[in-house]
Amino acid sequence: MTEQTTFSAGAAPGALPVVGHALQIMRHPVNFMASLSAHGDLVEIKIGPTTAYVPTHPELLRHVLTNDRVFDKGGIFYDRARDIAGNGLVTCPFADHRRQRRLMQSAFTRGQLKRYAEAMHAEIEDTASRWQDGMVVDAFQEMYGMALRTVGRTLYSTPVSPELTAKVERSFDVVLNGLFRQMFLPASIRRLPLPSQRRYKSNLDFLHETTQQLIDDYRSSDTERDDLLAALIASRDDDGGKLGDKEIHDQVITVMAAGTETVAGTLTWVFYLLSQHPEIEAALYDEIDTVLDGRAPQWDDLPNLSLADRIISETLRLHPPAWLFTRLTASPTELAGRQLPTGSTVVFSPAAVAQYEDAFDNPKKFDPDRWLPDRIAPASRHAYVPFGTGARKCIGDLYARTEATLGLATILGRWRVTCEPGMDIRPVPLATVYHPRRLRLRLDARTPRRKTSAVPVPAGGDAT
Ligand code: HEM
Repeated sequence: MTEQTTFSAGAAPGALPVVGHALQIMRHPVNFMASLSAHGDLVEIKIGPTTAYVPTHPELLRHVLTNDRVFDKGGIFYDRARDIAGNGLVTCPFADHRRQRRLMQSAFTRGQLKRYAEAMHAEIEDTASRWQDGMVVDAFQEMYGMALRTVGRTLYSTPVSPELTAKVERSFDVVLNGLFRQMFLPASIRRLPLPSQRRYKSNLDFLHETTQQLIDDYRSSDTERDDLLAALIASRDDDGGKLGDKEIHDQVITVMAAGTETVAGTLTWVFYLLSQHPEIEAALYDEIDTVLDGRAPQWDDLPNLSLADRIISETLRLHPPAWLFTRLTASPTELAGRQLPTGSTVVFSPAAVAQYEDAFDNPKKFDPDRWLPDRIAPASRHAYVPFGTGARKCIGDLYARTEATLGLATILGRWRVTCEPGMDIRPVPLATVYHPRRLRLRLDARTPRRKTSAVPVPAGGDAT
């Protein structure tokens, strides 16, 4: 933080006894977070009985995210996320993080991603070829299934039965959607044997058992593999240290949980935003047809699908699927003139800074071209944190962009996608990932515009 900047602190109005701002958060989390900057650079809110501080100034947020020793993982979000992901890379405290990150990094290099892109593409193709002309699908559920199977296939290249895949999909759905409910429930209620609690627990147990079974099967087979799990198992740090069995288990669940709904939410919002901006939609079809010329997209096409990439960036700014994370202060500290004792909760929400007026012209406008290289101002980079920043920045950011771009180019290359009437884009209350309540997509087969007409290949020869 620059010495000269003085930050203001305030409190969000409208907190109710017991629930605090939970109703506003449930009704529209992203709008609520975006509205907070009107009350100061650091704004006090109440999540149920918990007092939390939300940085709404990009510089203040950067200070929090780059001081991970003081602002450590913990608080209401991460306490519940640990029930799912144990001590994996997202949830582990500062004390364990550097070692885990070094060991995980080798599974997320560009070289690895290029290999994963093949598995991603295969899964996206499988999904898009199951659709039929004129079919209507629920956008989020369809993208969720595709994203979960895609992460599964990059992690674990051995085919898994369709029955087990479907069961894992259902269980992840229950668990991921349960996470925020768990967060808002007091411990006394969480411990009650209510049907919803039993369902959450049994699905979580099933996921842990299945993950362990898949890892055990993997270890006991001699097949050579080139997937994410193989990279995690083979990873060594400079001293020859490796991830232990429990750590591998936690990382597998972490990657599945962190990499699924986030990508599904992004693609869902992309389809919605394209439906509202037909000229941008037309330009995207044009880019896809020009770059791909009727073939399937590959890793090497990604730099040329630059409008697709800008659309994804802008969608993540306006509709960040991962919209709330917490930190717990590990020592007394000062923030925007406030003294925060050890154990204070600080909230990180990308939405709280994403419409910062000094960083973006017309910040509410969906304008993918604001991400053109000659238009990006340093201030907008600072206010743009859908993947976080600092040492705890998303390790899967390039993975997510690769999957989203391949997904978009594959789907729109083959299908004309239109949103059905009757959409309800209010967010699903208490969903962990921010996505619309009802967005149905109609899929009509399309023939991509080709630069050249196909030349028949003579028998025994080639077309050149
Ligand atoms: C659009 C998709 C995604 C978004 C918006 C997103 C967002 C984020 C954010 C904001 C963080 C930082 C959390 C914090 O600071 O508390 C994070 C961390 C993380 N994400 Fe992602 N993520 C996405 C996709 C993925 C994917 C595809 C993977 C894995 C394949 C992944 C794995 C992780 C992991 C392991 C961390 C923890 C990094 C660390 O603490 O070192 N994410 N993500």
